[in-house]
Amino acid sequence: MMVCEFKPGLDGIPAAQSSISSVDGHLGILEYRGIRIEELAEKSTFLETAYLLIWGELPTSEELAAFESEVRNHRRIKYRISDMMKCFPESGHPMDALQASAAALGLFYSRRDLNNPIYIRDAVVRLIAKIPTMVAAFQLMRNGNDAVRPRDDLDYSANFLYMLNEQAPDALAARIFDICLILHAEHTMNASTFSARVTASTLTDPYAVVASAVGTLGGPLHGGANEEVIQMLEAIGTVENVRPFIEDCLERKAKIMGFGHRVYKVKDPRATILQNMAEQLFDKFGPDKYYDIAQEMERVVEEKLGHKGIYPNVDFYSGLVYRKLGIPTDLFTPIFAIARVAGWLAHWKEQLEENRIYRPTQVYNGKHSISYTPIEKR
Ligand code: CMC
Repeated sequence: MMVCEFKPGLDGIPAAQSSISSVDGHLGILEYRGIRIEELAEKSTFLETAYLLIWGELPTSEELAAFESEVRNHRRIKYRISDMMKCFPESGHPMDALQASAAALGLFYSRRDLNNPIYIRDAVVRLIAKIPTMVAAFQLMRNGNDAVRPRDDLDYSANFLYMLNEQAPDALAARIFDICLILHAEHTMNASTFSARVTASTLTDPYAVVASAVGTLGGPLHGGANEEVIQMLEAIGTVENVRPFIEDCLERKAKIMGFGHRVYKVKDPRATILQNMAEQLFDKFGPDKYYDIAQEMERVVEEKLGHKGIYPNVDFYSGLVYRKLGIPTDLFTPIFAIARVAGWLAHWKEQLEENRIYRPTQVYNGKHSISYTPIEKR
């Protein structure tokens, strides 16, 4: 029998062949289908980027218009889904509400017609269209209000901010939010994408694929870190407290949220773009006291941990952007999911194209040949 070396966290083990995105962690380069993230952030929109990720090429203007129109037509959710969501406890985390609602879509649309490109396209459109509506609906419902119907005259991101705040957003805020979605749309073989591919490999329906990925994204070591960054900045409170806070974390061997990455050994290029967008928002809408604390943290962490390649990741500055857009802290990770659904669906489609069910092995380190002890003798 072949004996393989066990790598905790599958560190460095390829789990798939993929042409969707690539990361150079030493140069700080992220590309979607070969296009640099900086260029997409400057020139693209989230829906165009989603199309690129899922179908592999930038759309023509006709293809993009058709995709945008299909997504617009599927934004509403069935009253049974919203009635179900009204029964969710207000105290529940919005990521749990999203996971349950995404799975519930499968009750209505699951046919598992996976060889049919029309079924694939339909599922892609439905998930991209409905997930923002469900996130906004839960936010309003948990505050005792009815969900707001999507507005057909608003584009994808402006409509989401409208559904959340019940008023049409400022143009800069909507554009910056759209760029945030582009930045979070895809990132190679991270934990939630791996989870999506494992689920996809069983040939289950795409709603189950997305629900499993949402559950994986929620943890504090993955998408949940953006929420924890803000809680950390609040707890630190002043610039003077930064150094002692970091020294204390290092002494306790506690992780500093928003720093470090399995792949990047330099500052995450998305963190640089997010920091720049936070500054644009501060210029227009006023400063945020936590930004000074964040900058000081970046300086001190670089001084203490730069030699280990620990720098800000995507989650470090995204929370400051979302705060300025008036988004509640516990919606940061659901917003990450709104974006990442594009990447998960691209991986779902790619997995189906050359599927083999995931069935890795394990290194058994338990006992053998133990006899059963009757309960009265234990
Ligand atoms: N603070 C302090 N030390 C750190 C940190 C951190 N945030 N991240 C890594 N290290 C140290 C770690 O202590 C270890 O040191 P040593 O070799 O001396 O034991 C070394 O760097 C390697 O760390 P690791 O935990 O083995 O690295 P990993 O690749 O298993 O974990 C990570 C990557 C992102 C889970 C980790 O850096 C972390 O927990 N960061 C904080 C949580 C966070 O910001 N998560 C968001 C990740 S990016 C977006 C996303 O995936 O959603």
